[in-house]
Amino acid sequence: MRPCAERGSALLLLLPVVVLAALSSLGVAALPQRPPLHAALDAPHRTLSKRASDDPRLSDVSRLEDDQLEGLLTLLNRTATKSWEIGTHLTALVELSYPDLSPFSSSSSSWARPSPDVSPPPTEVLAAVASILASQPAGQAQLVPDGSAADPASVGPYVVLANFTLAEGEQIGGKSKDEVVSAVERQVEVLLRGTPRTQDGAISHRTEDVELWSDFMYMVPPFFAYLGALTSNTSLLTAAYTQCELYRSHLRDERTGLWRHINNQFEGGGGMADDGLWATGNGWAAAGMARVLATYVNHPDSDVVAEFASQSSELSRWIAEIVNAAWAQPRAKYGLRYNYLNDTSSFADASGTALLAAATFRLSVLSIADSVTAPSTDALDAAEGAYRAVVPSRVSSAGVVSPVVDPMSFSDPLDDARADGSGQSSPEAAAFVLLLEAARRDWVESNGGVEPQTTAQGDSGSGGGPSAGARSAGALCAAVVAGLLAVGLVA
Ligand SMILES: *[C@@H]1O[C@H](CO)[C@@H](O)[C@H](O)[C@H]1NC(C)=O
Ligand SMILES: *[C@@H]1O[C@H](CO)[C@@H](O)[C@H](O)[C@H]1NC(C)=O
Ligand SMILES: *[C@@H]1O[C@H](CO)[C@@H](O)[C@H](O)[C@H]1NC(C)=O
Ligand SMILES: *[C@@H]1O[C@H](CO)[C@@H](O)[C@H](O)[C@H]1NC(C)=O
Repeated sequence: MRPCAERGSALLLLLPVVVLAALSSLGVAALPQRPPLHAALDAPHRTLSKRASDDPRLSDVSRLEDDQLEGLLTLLNRTATKSWEIGTHLTALVELSYPDLSPFSSSSSSWARPSPDVSPPPTEVLAAVASILASQPAGQAQLVPDGSAADPASVGPYVVLANFTLAEGEQIGGKSKDEVVSAVERQVEVLLRGTPRTQDGAISHRTEDVELWSDFMYMVPPFFAYLGALTSNTSLLTAAYTQCELYRSHLRDERTGLWRHINNQFEGGGGMADDGLWATGNGWAAAGMARVLATYVNHPDSDVVAEFASQSSELSRWIAEIVNAAWAQPRAKYGLRYNYLNDTSSFADASGTALLAAATFRLSVLSIADSVTAPSTDALDAAEGAYRAVVPSRVSSAGVVSPVVDPMSFSDPLDDARADGSGQSSPEAAAFVLLLEAARRDWVESNGGVEPQTTAQGDSGSGGGPSAGARSAGALCAAVVAGLLAVGLVA
């Protein structure tokens, strides 16, 4: 959905035409029932009360409590240790705490031109990069050693960010600027030239054989796009898109438009296959493509925006295809979605649900740009319902999200999650909740502080009815415009 303000102004431009048409065809006397202008203005568009904490990371309409935010951050700091967990943690920190450094911020921010005097400095992100660089074995191709070819690339954008914020002569993690640049180049090289591929060129998710995992979409294309954007490298910007296109062609399920998890049916294929429509995997794909899309449409150089206009349009269609189809799948316990989206014998998963909701909000904000397809109104509505299902009730004050899929098995639920964090927990789920909070905050901001409304069912319990008086922001917009029309007709 396009933000209210823009949609409203487009409709207002049509006002005189509509008024004239109405007057000539109906006559004022034949006016149908007057749209309820006052009702529209009284609609649940809640007057924003300042949060007690005034934490700039949360929006005024955030449902996340301050202790939950601290819990999530602390839990991530302690438990995000695998390469993709670190990358996803850092992505969440940037989007939440340093939004001007994220490609989701507008082209007028400095995201594509970070410098040593960036303010505020992204301290925790740089600290994490320092420890990655300090522990990287000499000459190692991957930024973090891993059997996955793709997962270590998820930290790539933050090593690039560290390089750009590092002054000549300075060091990070005991490495000079030249050494940091060379670590980035080795990571790019091993992906482009040292990793098995399908015959049509899709880079494998694994180092040892050809396996395409939907997870790849969040790890590699956003890294290529970000590095390409910051170093003005068109071939990397293009490679980001090409990999999305190839992965889609090999993972998309014709029947639903959703993506399967793992395809290994290729020459040189091995490892495992997973034909299921994994919720988190669809989230990885939609959210990863949204980051690539943002890199194109929010690039400060208008030539780059124009050069990638058709790719942007395609990417947005592919993201919309996933989120629209995902939210049309059955609802699980607590208003969450199933771990395998169309399989009601699997279990409710707050993890994939959160990432899909984050991607839906991101696409909605990006659809302000020309020729970017928006998610359907139903999808946006469902994303808001999912947000309300997850936050605050599925997050403990120690930052444990439940129920969630076991991130190490992807087909089993995580057992032994304990609210105080002493049991098992899913670091990626904690990061997804922060990504969702950041995405929804930015949606609210781009809609003038209006909270998204939902007509979705069961947003806070297992299967409650439609929330009373709830209406979508789009409906509110339409009602306001209709009210103005009525005023115009009467005047
Ligand atoms: C993570 O913990 C370390 C110490 O264990 C601390 O130095 C660092 O600032 C913490 N980072 C964040 C993001 O809280
Ligand atoms: C590293 O930063 C410098 C600017 O300080 C930039 O010119 C160079 O392209 C960057 N390289 C990488 C790989 O980030
Ligand atoms: C763009 O990046 C690729 C991959 O690192 C590199 O091979 C190529 O030389 C770069 N192109 C330019 C123009 O810098
Ligand atoms: C889910 O969708 C896939 C792909 O279309 C299909 O093969 C599978 O049978 C479906 N599962 C259920 C439980 O409907």
